[in-house]
Amino acid sequence: MKKFTSVSDVENLQQIIKKALQIKENPLSEPEKGKGKTIGLVFLNSSLRTRLSSQIAAQNIGLNVLTLNAAQEAWNLEFADGAVMNGDTVEHIKDAIEVLNQYCDIIAVRCFAGMKNKEDDVNESILSQFEQYAKVPVISLESATRHPLQSLADCITITENWKENRKPKVVLTWAPHIKPIAQAVGNSFAEWMQEMDVDFIITNPEGYDLDKNFTKDVKVIHDQNEALKDADFIYVKNWSSFDDYATMPEVKENWMLTNEKLENTNQAKVMHCLPVRRNVELSDEVMDGENSIIYQQAKNRIFSAQAVFSEILDKMNSK
Ligand code: CP
Repeated sequence: MKKFTSVSDVENLQQIIKKALQIKENPLSEPEKGKGKTIGLVFLNSSLRTRLSSQIAAQNIGLNVLTLNAAQEAWNLEFADGAVMNGDTVEHIKDAIEVLNQYCDIIAVRCFAGMKNKEDDVNESILSQFEQYAKVPVISLESATRHPLQSLADCITITENWKENRKPKVVLTWAPHIKPIAQAVGNSFAEWMQEMDVDFIITNPEGYDLDKNFTKDVKVIHDQNEALKDADFIYVKNWSSFDDYATMPEVKENWMLTNEKLENTNQAKVMHCLPVRRNVELSDEVMDGENSIIYQQAKNRIFSAQAVFSEILDKMNSK
C-alpha cells in the first residue's frame, strides 16, 4: 500500500480485515516494525478517536509519533494557490507540507469539508494538496468526502459480529442532527460496503440522498421502517443535503433510532462512528442497549490504523 485515502488503495479487503483481526489478537507482535521512522498526525479539525487510536497504533509498531493540532497550535494556513498573503494567513499549505516532508516518513491528515463551497469539497481541495506536495505516503484521517480508517474499522466490526452462512443485511440510516454535518462517513461506508459480501441498502429522507459517485447502484429507500425490516446491522449517521449542498431540508417524521424501531429487525446490531448526540441521533436505550456494538467499533479503530500503517511500512521497507 503506497497511500491510504480511499478503499481503492486497498489491494485485498478481506486480507487487510484478517490482518487487523490478527493484530487485535496480539497488538504488540511487531514492536520494531516502525523503528527509526516517524508518522506526523496533522489535525485541521477536532478528534478524539482518530487521534488516540492512531497514536496507539503507531506506538504499537514502534513508530515515532508527532501530533500537530494545526487549527489550534500552528500558524494560520493559506490554502489558495497564488494567494497574496497580506491578510490573516501566515503560512502556505505547500510550505507547511514541504517542512513535514523533512520531518516525517508518513503524513496523516484530517481535513474536513468546509461545507461552504461544494466544488472545493467534492474536489478535496485540502487533501489533494497533501497528495500533491507530500513526498512521503499520505493517510487520510477523514477528508471532505471520505473517512477510510473509520470504514475499515466498520468492516472489521461487521466481520467479527457475523458468523452465519449467509450475507448479512446492512442498512445505513440517516439520523437527525442539530446542524449540517458532512457526508464523508456515509459516503465512505457506502463505498466500503459495496466491496464487502453483504446486502447493503441506504435509507434517508427525501432531499438527503448521498452523492451517486459513492452510492452508485445501491438501493435508497425513503421509508426508514421498510428499510430496517430484517436488518442484521444498522449504521446510524447524520449527513446534510448533498444536492442542496450543506443545507438541512425539513424532515417531518422522527428518524431517531429507538428500541421500538429495532423490533422489526433481525435483532440488528447497531453501529455509529461517534461522537453521537444522544437522544437526537439515537436514543439512550439503543446506545446503552445490548444491540449496540458502538464501543467495539471505536476499539477497532486501533487495529484498522495499525493494519494500514503496517502495510505502508511493508511497502516502504521492501524498496
Ligand atoms: N469517529 C471518529 O472519527 O471520531 P473522532 O472524530 O473523535 O476522531
